[in-house]
Amino acid sequence: MPNIAVIGAQWGDEGKGKVIDLLSEHFDVVARFQGGPNAGHTVTIGTTRHALHHVPSGVFRPRVRVVIGNGTVIDLARLLEELERLRASGVETDGRLFVSDRAHVILPLMKQLDAIAEADPLHRIGTTQRGIGPTYEAKAARWGVRMADLADLDHLESRVARLLAGPAGRRLGENGSPLPEPAVVAQEAHALWKQLAPRVVDTTLLLNDWIDEGLRVLFEGAQGTLLDVDHGTYPYVTSSNTMAGAVCAGLGVSPRLIEGVIGVFKAYSTRVGEGPMPTELDDGPDGIGERLRRRGNEYGTTTGRPRRCGWFDGVAGRYAQRINRFDAACVLLLDVLDPFDEIRVAIGYRDAGIDVRSVPASAAQAGRIEPIYRSFAGWKSDTTGVRRWQDLPAAARAYLEGLEEIVGAEVALAGVGPERSQVLIRPGTWLARQLNLG
Ligand code: GDP
Ligand code: IMO
Ligand code: MG
Repeated sequence: MPNIAVIGAQWGDEGKGKVIDLLSEHFDVVARFQGGPNAGHTVTIGTTRHALHHVPSGVFRPRVRVVIGNGTVIDLARLLEELERLRASGVETDGRLFVSDRAHVILPLMKQLDAIAEADPLHRIGTTQRGIGPTYEAKAARWGVRMADLADLDHLESRVARLLAGPAGRRLGENGSPLPEPAVVAQEAHALWKQLAPRVVDTTLLLNDWIDEGLRVLFEGAQGTLLDVDHGTYPYVTSSNTMAGAVCAGLGVSPRLIEGVIGVFKAYSTRVGEGPMPTELDDGPDGIGERLRRRGNEYGTTTGRPRRCGWFDGVAGRYAQRINRFDAACVLLLDVLDPFDEIRVAIGYRDAGIDVRSVPASAAQAGRIEPIYRSFAGWKSDTTGVRRWQDLPAAARAYLEGLEEIVGAEVALAGVGPERSQVLIRPGTWLARQLNLG
């Protein structure tokens, strides 16, 4: 298996955790390159549902090493809690989970700043309030605190003082929030760092050494392409680059080392938080949107918020394909569509009667878009027990082939339930060949 990136192809929550858990059997290392505890990746093994926020989804394979890269942002207390929860469920990470010394730290005041922005109707975009935006903002402004800054208490205190003397402190002051003492902030962070210290290393060096030794690496994406800070529906996006191109900066690996890119889609669309979603179905308690939400259990893994639901957006899917060039598309949650008579896919956009070829840069325009739909016949049968591609109902296969044509990426995997085994690999595809499945 070559080194591959697994990327969310919509607005997040496509089922990346499940795909990565499945594929990690064929890898030695799984490495996260961006995002932080805004992510919620679910892995269901048997009847146990694990929710991961920082820790890469390869962690359930005891042989696999996991890396939290320099492009991520880390909430120290939450990461420690996550490791404790894993340990309690029998998953040991000592000696095989590594955190970059260049990753930025989400100090508690970053979460306060996130909450302050979200309380202001002028700024609100519906973030996860995990401090993601303020932490990446400080990184870009060069006021950030990195994992490597946590070791020396005096140095750390001076970094925090510098941060509080800038716009972060001013914003807290304007809000009437008491300014935290730099010494207190530093001591708390330093105490948490002590528990993580053996894991904090130069992960770029580690990864490149491993790749040179011939170990196989899976690069794990979080969020989704339409939440990318450059290419997503700005400003309703997260604060990092989520697309495949971000792997290199977020881990310190050359683009020449990415040998394949896999896109994860769900069979329809969801989005949490605000921002344009052309195919959203806000059609009441008995409507299709609510049926999708109920059947797909579409409530956020991180915040519990109901996700907005709608038909598959083929224009956005093609856009994701264009900027990531997926070798394989995975379509998860196909089973959610089992009972529908008719299934629709947006194949075009129109704004005031004029065709719009791709996802527009302007959120105002994206908010006005009227989708043009293509209709597919439903299969109206239970797919949750199907394990071979050829056993899918013909109409389900026709739907997946339709998505392949609309998006322009080979559909190679379908998910028919949350459990590890509820997955089908399509024979004859690039992915099947990589997995030696013919
Ligand atoms: P991620 O953030 O991309 O890893 O996705 P999430 O874990 O946030 O959300 C995906 C949800 O769908 C989780 O609750 C998964 O357990 C569930 N899931 C994944 N694949 C399937 C599938 O094929 N069918 C069904 N019904 N649920 C799935
Ligand atoms: P996974 O990895 C879905 C959304 C938030 C909000 C916007 C900005 O599980 O797919 P942020 O807290 O990042 O500043 O919020 O991005 N968002 C996600 N939506 N899945 C995620 O992660 C998300 N991470 C952030 O809802 O709209
Ligand atoms: Mg998620």
